[in-house]
Amino acid sequence: MKISKRVLNDIEFYIKGIKDKRKGLEDILYMAQIEYGYLPNEVQNFISEKTEIPLIEIKECISKSDLLKDDTKNSVLIRVCKGARCSANGSEFILEEFKKQLKIDVGETTSDGITLQIQNCFAKCAIGPNVYINNTHIPKVTVEEVKNIIKRVKMFDYK
Ligand code: FES
Repeated sequence: MKISKRVLNDIEFYIKGIKDKRKGLEDILYMAQIEYGYLPNEVQNFISEKTEIPLIEIKECISKSDLLKDDTKNSVLIRVCKGARCSANGSEFILEEFKKQLKIDVGETTSDGITLQIQNCFAKCAIGPNVYINNTHIPKVTVEEVKNIIKRVKMFDYK
């Protein structure tokens, strides 16, 4: 997988802001998996290099965490925008529908690996309410569409 330079720059910038890299490792990994919904090996290697934490410790941290996922865990991250403009266009109802359909709360993961998260603005406000499935953007989502989006997620349409 080719990881974009922008993503690596973002991760590096985030790492630089963390004083104790070992203590902050889970936070670093969590931030780094937002783009892809999991932690590709290339990203893990990059974090290992930038934090000077051995790769084995990074893999251990991922395997111990319920929130972190690597290539081997089948995972999908759904992010619903809760920024002001998307909220004004009903993103709250969309989030509620995702919670209802998936039977989980924000920050939780279903038994088949779907995690629900919120995001405070994707900088695509004019075409909201916005939802991301891993790094696939879905604009102008309606409550009625949520069921079908989940169906497609389960069929790995967004992988
Ligand atoms: S408020 Fe949702 S993209 Fe900006």
